[in-house]
Amino acid sequence: MTRQTITTKGGNAVEVRGLVKHFGEVKAVDGVDLDVREGTVLGVLGPNGAGKTTLVRCLSTLLVPDAGSAFVAGYDVVRQPRALRRRIGLTGQYASVDEKLSGRENLYMIGRLLDLSRKDARSRADEMLERFSLTEAAKRPAAKYSGGMRRRLDLAASMIGQPSVLYLDEPTTGLDPRTRNEVWEEVRRMVYEGATVLLTTQYMEEAEQLANELTVIDRGQVIAEGRVDELKAKVGGRTLQIRPTDPGELERMAGAIAQAGLDGIAGATADRAEGVVNVPIISDEQLTAVVGVLARQGFELAAISTHLPSLDEVFLAVTGQKTSEAGAGADAGDTQDQQYAEVSA
Ligand SMILES: Nc1ncnc2c1ncn2[C@@H]1O[C@H](COP(=O)(O)OP(=O)(O)O)[C@@H](O)[C@H]1O
Ligand SMILES: [Mg+2]
Repeated sequence: MTRQTITTKGGNAVEVRGLVKHFGEVKAVDGVDLDVREGTVLGVLGPNGAGKTTLVRCLSTLLVPDAGSAFVAGYDVVRQPRALRRRIGLTGQYASVDEKLSGRENLYMIGRLLDLSRKDARSRADEMLERFSLTEAAKRPAAKYSGGMRRRLDLAASMIGQPSVLYLDEPTTGLDPRTRNEVWEEVRRMVYEGATVLLTTQYMEEAEQLANELTVIDRGQVIAEGRVDELKAKVGGRTLQIRPTDPGELERMAGAIAQAGLDGIAGATADRAEGVVNVPIISDEQLTAVVGVLARQGFELAAISTHLPSLDEVFLAVTGQKTSEAGAGADAGDTQDQQYAEVSA
């Protein structure tokens, strides 16, 4: 089985235009445009209730949008749902794994649902169990699996049909850091093998780790998009960090920069804990000017670096909301559980 994605003229495995899905008064998805280039990961970043799951459900034919268009792997999500379902995989926070069945039985069943022969369904199940380090637990009921094992089983389930486009809806919400890293490794591997991934997340770090491009959504609308580094740059300038060889020089150094009267340099702050002086800058000329002043005054410098703002700062700047306020909480799981319940119905 080879993986081949049919793309749009622009080379997009996913192309969404003006997508709308309202639930009564709630504008869950309210005119979203997005593109995912073949073989890349698009991160859809947004707080709880932003419309991420609704978007994913529209793109996986589980919901019919009210307006707009969406093509995935070359198929129209509204007009060609059956053909499209064979090309996509979906992993939610709690996907439709049957608790009573063993890991192997779950995967075998999904293979059969995808029209694989018994033999192929068995070998594909074993292949996925091996790949997701579940071979030893293969015969145990999924109900006995730990959180991390379940998530791996979810990922394995979504990979059984060798989908060309994979939706990962908050794949690591609620996972411990070690399991999260394992999931990230698997996602990278899927992409390496040619899959196109649309990943929703509330975690800046996750987007930074996995995504090539980012779309930030809030209240059903796209509020920012671009490459991760572009989005970071949008928030403003960089921070120049200077580490003196002698930490005792921190305050004197910060003072020297502040008093030099350099163009566009508002000030410098000494960070004792980190042993650096931070200077907000917006151009390379300013960087050179600051370092020049310090060199002329005879300061000995151990290190100089510049830092882009974190994605948390990006989010704050574009939404006016701190991500912690977005409530990446435990109740998100319950909601999602209910939402996906419809899938198996
Ligand atoms: N089936 C539904 N019926 C009514 N409202 C819904 C339904 N699904 C989602 N919503 C509402 O739509 C908004 C977006 O929800 P959702 O897509 O789940 O956001 P996210 O996945 O980003 O947390 C929320 O206000 C949510 O309460
Ligand atoms: Mg959701």
